[in-house]
Amino acid sequence: MPLRKPVRLDPRIPWFAEVRHLLSPMAGVTDRPFRTICRDHGADMGFCEFTSASGLYHENEQTWALIDTEGEPGRVGIQIFGDDPGAMGAATELLVARGRRMDVLDLNFGCPAKKVVKKCGGSALLADVPRLERIVRAVVAAAGPVPVSAKFRTGWDETSLNYEEVGRLLEELGCVWVTLHGRTRNQKYKGEANWDTIARLVEALEIPVVGNGDVVDGASCRAMVAHTRCHGVMVARAAIGNPWIFGQMTAAEGGRPWAAPSFDEICETMARHIRLEVAQRGERTGSLVVRKHLARCFRGYPGAAALRRRLFAEESSAGMIAVLDDTRRAGDPRRLPDHEPEERAS
Ligand SMILES: Cc1cc2nc3c(=O)[nH]c(=O)nc-3n(C[C@H](O)[C@H](O)[C@H](O)COP(=O)(O)O)c2cc1C
Repeated sequence: MPLRKPVRLDPRIPWFAEVRHLLSPMAGVTDRPFRTICRDHGADMGFCEFTSASGLYHENEQTWALIDTEGEPGRVGIQIFGDDPGAMGAATELLVARGRRMDVLDLNFGCPAKKVVKKCGGSALLADVPRLERIVRAVVAAAGPVPVSAKFRTGWDETSLNYEEVGRLLEELGCVWVTLHGRTRNQKYKGEANWDTIARLVEALEIPVVGNGDVVDGASCRAMVAHTRCHGVMVARAAIGNPWIFGQMTAAEGGRPWAAPSFDEICETMARHIRLEVAQRGERTGSLVVRKHLARCFRGYPGAAALRRRLFAEESSAGMIAVLDDTRRAGDPRRLPDHEPEERAS
């Protein structure tokens, strides 16, 4: 098992010692049904998508609906973003006063989206560290007993890498752990995540560092831990339509063999995902949001494109589930006589 650096754990989060593989917050993706599915497949913790502090503060119903954690079993974090220390503090106060279910409150200093950075939120705060500091102070003070963490990038651009400075500041201000995505804001999602930056931050801090960026399977998870000695590994894109990645990472780190899900299992899990989405969001929205997972889960299977078309032609969840049942009954397409072998992408 690769060696992780020993860390200083805040007494409020003894459970974090066991947290190794985390589902990243993803806007439009990491709702409660998906977090549930990922946890069922081995994720140690999940996060709600980032949520606007000012939306919470102004009692926007849709914003509050994004934090769908009530009664959620297992570890879950809420993530907020914003540019205004007052609004960030006030939103935190509301979350705490209303007893919103959260094991940690995470701060987003990594979002590269124009609409967020133009208002000086997300990764724009890496270019305005005094403001970032005011935000963290306000949130930590308002959070009281609720532990606060932060997720950020390596800097605004290659010429202004300041992840060590920001990481040290976050530790000093009372964050219980930090997550570093090894890209700059200007990189957005291009190029490769620089795992050296994660390794340097792990060395620089006493609190746990969670590594993030470009982990796509068990081998890359193991490689990230070996390269960086990070406490935890957070996965975003590779989990979409592929909750099995969490079991794969656990097996790889434990040096155990891992069996990819059978075709049957994929169909069954997707049918469950559809049912959970519909139960939470209603027939119309539930059937739509699950599509991004359905679009990916059969990647690499012969006939995947035709199957996707059949699924997406269905207007109801019952129709989609019937297609999955039908496909399942026909058997694994890789075993059918007319199939041409293809690699299953992870
Ligand atoms: C569709 C999508 C939505 C995202 N939304 C968020 C978000 O709400 N909060 C956040 O901190 N990061 C968000 N991210 C960034 C991811 O959490 C993660 O840092 C990034 O994708 C790198 O990890 P990966 O290589 O495992 O995908 C999002 C990424 C994607 C692709």
